[in-house]
Formats: sequence, C-alpha cells, structure tokens
Amino acid sequence: MASHRRLKICCTITALLFIILSVVVVVLYFTILKPKQPETIAYPVQLTKIELIPFPQLKLNITLFLKVQINNRNYGAFEYKPTTAHVNYRGAVVAEAPIAGGEIPARGKHNVSSSVEIMGDKLAFSPQFWMDLGVGSFNFTSFTTLQGRVKLFKILKMSATARSVCDVTLSIRSNSVNSTCYSKFKL
Ligand SMILES: *[C@@H]1O[C@H](CO)[C@@H](O)[C@H](O)[C@H]1NC(C)=O
Ligand SMILES: *[C@@H]1O[C@H](CO)[C@@H](O)[C@H](O)[C@H]1NC(C)=O
Ligand SMILES: *[C@@H]1O[C@H](CO)[C@@H](O)[C@H](O)[C@H]1NC(C)=O
Ligand SMILES: *[C@@H]1O[C@H](CO)[C@@H](O)[C@H](O)[C@H]1NC(C)=O
Repeated sequence: MASHRRLKICCTITALLFIILSVVVVVLYFTILKPKQPETIAYPVQLTKIELIPFPQLKLNITLFLKVQINNRNYGAFEYKPTTAHVNYRGAVVAEAPIAGGEIPARGKHNVSSSVEIMGDKLAFSPQFWMDLGVGSFNFTSFTTLQGRVKLFKILKMSATARSVCDVTLSIRSNSVNSTCYSKFKL
C-alpha cells in the first residue's frame, strides 16, 4: 500500500518535471533559439558623382552610394560571405561593387555600404538608353544581398540572407536621385 503510494508520488513528480522541462524548451525555442532572418533597413541611395559629356563622344560616369543597416536579431552571430552589390539598368547588370565579408555579433547592428560606379558605355547597350537620355531620367535597381549563417553556441548553424533592393530614379536635369527600397526575406 505504502509502496503503491510512493510510486504514485514518484510518477507525479516525474510527470511534473517533464511538463516543466517541455515548457522551458518551448519557451527557449521561441525566444532565444528560434532562428530569425537578419533585418535590413536601407538608407536612401545617394548620388556621389555624375559626369555627363554628350558631345563629341558620349561620356557618362555615375557613382551611387548604397548603404544598408543590417540588424541581427539572433542570439548568435551572423557571419556573412564576401559578395558584390550590383546595379541593373533595363534588366541587365551594368555595375558591381565588392562588399567584404564580416560578422555581426548577437543582437548587433552593422552598416554595410558600397560605392557603385556606372559607366555610360554599359548603359548605351540598351536600345532605350537614348530615349532615357532624351527624357533626362534613368531608372536603376540596386541589389545588396548578404548571404551567410547564424551560429548559436557554436553548434546550431542556420543559413541566413539579408537582402535589400532599391528602385532608383536618376534625373540628369537636377543631378539628383530618388530611391524606394524594400527587403525580401527567405528562410
Ligand atoms: C569614370 O570615373 C573613373 C574613376 O573616377 C575613371 O577611371 C573613368 O575613366 C571615368 N570614365 C569616364 C568615361 O569618364
Ligand atoms: C549607420 O549609419 C547611420 C547613418 O549614417 C547612423 O545613424 C547609424 O548609427 C549607423 N549604424 C551603425 C550600427 O553604425
Ligand atoms: C522610372 O520609375 C518611376 C518610378 O518608379 C516611374 O514613374 C517611371 O515611369 C520610370 N521611368 C521609366 C523610363 O521607366
Ligand atoms: C524626387 O522626388 C521629389 C519629390 O517627390 C521630386 O520633386 C523630384 O523631382 C524627384 N527626383 C527625381 C530624380 O526623381
């Protein structure tokens, strides 16, 4: 009788411990361990240089400055590989700039920037170039994509991507740019 009661207490305690442990694991998973993609916040694209000489031979040299803040929301460091930022014009890549690899500590923020130089002769390949030049405005799309992984306690590793895309409109009349940026996430 006594041993039966003891067995019952023992089972109850075991069950309770099990429930507590499960709750702790679930809470930990949703707070600390759950991998989150890094957040990106793009700053407005800046025009740092523009040189335009239409005659006798077209010379067009544009430098855009891209800056993105990467927000690592994980309790592990985000390690990213060296990559390139690139700029598209009318669907074709017209310029690239390297971005060094790096690491953003747990719950840290980091700015990544690159200066992309666009040469006019690359743009002139597009049949719409002369039309855009006539109108005085060019549309570009810039891409900054950081690929890497988040490491937790040196054992858990998850691939992660921080991506920022900006639609840039350059006016060669006012020598200014406007940009609209957005982020896309994929897990
Ligand atoms: C554009 O600028 C770069 C660096 O400032 C220079 O090396 C290059 O010759 C320029 N290109 C033109 C077409 O002016
Ligand atoms: C990133 O750049 C912005 C604007 O220049 C600055 O306000 C911010 O503090 C920078 N963030 C970091 C993490 O360096
Ligand atoms: C450039 O982009 C702006 C805004 O997205 C749009 O209103 C305009 O029509 C575009 N121009 C060309 C030539 O595609
Ligand atoms: C940028 O936007 C402002 C306000 O909407 C507008 O006045 C200006 O012409 C735009 N510039 C370019 C290069 O599109």
